[in-house]
Amino acid sequence: MESSTGRRTTTGTTAATTPGPTTEERLVARAVAPQEADDAGLRRDLLATWVDVSEAGGAVGFVPPVDPAAVASALDHLLDRVRSGTDVLVVLQEEPSGRVVGLGVLVRGTVALTAHWRTVRRLMVRPERQGRGAGRLLLEGVHDAARDLGLEQLALTVRGGQGLEPFYERLGYVECGRMPGALRIAPGDDRDEVQMVRRL
Ligand SMILES: CC(C)(COP(=O)(O)OP(=O)(O)OC[C@H]1O[C@@H](n2cnc3c(N)ncnc32)[C@H](O)[C@@H]1OP(=O)(O)O)[C@@H](O)C(=O)NCCC(=O)NCCS
Repeated sequence: MESSTGRRTTTGTTAATTPGPTTEERLVARAVAPQEADDAGLRRDLLATWVDVSEAGGAVGFVPPVDPAAVASALDHLLDRVRSGTDVLVVLQEEPSGRVVGLGVLVRGTVALTAHWRTVRRLMVRPERQGRGAGRLLLEGVHDAARDLGLEQLALTVRGGQGLEPFYERLGYVECGRMPGALRIAPGDDRDEVQMVRRL
């Protein structure tokens, strides 16, 4: 669907949808414009989502107990790259409230030789929204944004031992590599980093 700004949105009602008293709530996945990186409300929702997902054990760069200041620093770095147009941020948004409840980023590589593909990073949905179709809607929105950029394939890495590979396989990704013990979650808890790819 084309929004009023000409940007494509991926819309869905998921099992997470709860009808309001007069208006049915729905979820929309959309790529944000670079200038939205300065939106304080968007930043607040993104930070709350990232902290809450991490505290719940999500594999998005942090382990509990989570330092919100460290997440805020990572978020500001992410938003800097969105503002400059280097990376593309896709958000999952509740309508009509506009509250952001999920995100994913298309991260550009550093050399021209890799310009035909990007890496999906920081894919997450608020804990209370998980397991009912929101992640599928969000990742399909990321795929739509990638196609709009003319990309040919996407890559991502998954923290082993989290049971995440089947989610990505359901959405078309295949494992293409694995670095044993790459991630030290805690002393004595090393995990593989699994590489996955998907053609668009
Ligand atoms: C990963 C994540 C985004 C998935 O979102 P979700 O809303 O829970 O997933 P969905 O309910 O949309 O599931 C989509 C499909 O994957 C399947 N699926 C999801 N998780 C699965 C799992 N652990 N094992 C097997 N299948 C799974 C669902 O059955 C569904 O299949 P279907 O649509 O064909 O019926 C979400 O769980 C999350 O935010 N996790 C924490 C953050 C994180 O670890 N992100 C991964 C970074 S690599």
